[in-house]
Amino acid sequence: MSSIKKIGILTGGGDCPGLNPVIRAATRTAILKYGLEVVGIRNGYRGLYLGDFTPLTLENISGILPLGGTILHSSNKDNLFQYPFEENGETVLKDVSHVGVENLKKAGIDAMLIVGGDGTLTSGRDFSNLGVRVIGVPKTIDNDLASTDVTFGFDTAVSVATEALDRLHTTASSHHRIMVLEVMGRYAGWIGLNAGIAGGADAIMIPEIPYDINKIANAINTRKKFGKTFSVIVASEGAKSVNGEMVVSKVVENSPDPIRLGGIGAKVADELEQLCGLEARATTLGHIQRGGTPTAYDRILSTRYGSYAVDLAMEGKFGNMVTLKGNEMSYDSLNNVIGQKTKNVNPNGELVRFAKNIGISFGD
Ligand code: F6P
Repeated sequence: MSSIKKIGILTGGGDCPGLNPVIRAATRTAILKYGLEVVGIRNGYRGLYLGDFTPLTLENISGILPLGGTILHSSNKDNLFQYPFEENGETVLKDVSHVGVENLKKAGIDAMLIVGGDGTLTSGRDFSNLGVRVIGVPKTIDNDLASTDVTFGFDTAVSVATEALDRLHTTASSHHRIMVLEVMGRYAGWIGLNAGIAGGADAIMIPEIPYDINKIANAINTRKKFGKTFSVIVASEGAKSVNGEMVVSKVVENSPDPIRLGGIGAKVADELEQLCGLEARATTLGHIQRGGTPTAYDRILSTRYGSYAVDLAMEGKFGNMVTLKGNEMSYDSLNNVIGQKTKNVNPNGELVRFAKNIGISFGD
C-alpha cells in the first residue's frame, strides 16, 4: 500500500493551454482511481510560501477541460530558493524553501505534482533534493524541454500561429505586401518552423539557423519574378542574423529567465521593405499563442500527462518528470531535464530539410 494519501498540484511559470486539463486529469485519477485527497497550490510557488492551498474536488474541477490558463493561477517570479525581500531600500534574496516544506507538512500533503517549464521544474528538483516527493509535468508552448518529444501547449500555439498566417496571406496578396509574423518560442524555433510549414510561409527565421537578410530578400525577389508580388515570412522571436544578436524587448527582474525577447518582426519588415521595394508590415502574435482553449491534441496530451503523473506518484517514482517518447508515456529524472539542456530544432534535421525541399528560405 502506498503511503500517499493527499497530493498537491502546483502550476508555475507562464500560462499555457492544457494546464487545466492536466489539473482535471490528475484530480480525477487521484480521486477516482486511488481515493486520494487533492489540494491545489495557488499562484505557483508563492502559494507554497504563503500556504495558499485550496481543495480540488470532482465538483470544482468540473467544466475546466476546454479552458485556457490555469484555475490555480501562476507566477513566474517566486523562486523560494532565492525569494526577494526589501530590506533598507534594497532587494535581498533569501532561501525560504523550508517555509514551503513546512507548509506541505502542516497541510498533510504527501506528494506534489509540479507543472511547469525549466524554471518551475528546477525548483521542483531542488525541493525533491530536500526530500519533498515531486513529480514534474512538462509545460511550455515553446516545446524546448529536454527528455520529452512534445510539451503540452505547443500544438495550440502552432495552430494559432498557422491560422494567423492564413489570415495574413489574404492581406499580403490583396496589397502586394510582405507580411512578417513574429512568433514566440524563446530560444527555440519549434513554433516558427512548424507554423511556417503549416501556414505556407515563404521564409522562416529561427534561432537555430542564423539568417542573412539579403538571402531572405533574394527569395522574395525570386517570387516577384514569377509573378508573386507578395510574401509571408515567419520570424521566431529568438532568431538572429548571421552578424547580429537576438532582439530583446525588456528585462524582467526576479524572473528565473529575465530576458523577454521581441521586436524582430518589425526590424525584419523594415529591412525587407528597403531591400525588396515592396511594402512590408509586421504582426506580433504574442500571448494570443498562449491564451484560450487548447486544441484536441493538447487536451489529450495533458490528460495523459496529468493521469500518468498520479500513477507515477503512487508507484513512488519521485524526482522524475513524465515524458512522451514516440507515442508512449514514460518518465525521466528532473536532473536530465532542467538547466541548459534545452531541446532545439536540428538545423540539419528532417523537418528543416523538407521545408527547404519545398522552397522555404531560412536565409542561410
Ligand atoms: O516560455 C513561454 C513564453 O511564452 C515564451 O515563448 C515567451 O518568450 C515568454 O514566455 C514570454 O514571457 P512573458 O509572459 O513573461 O511575457
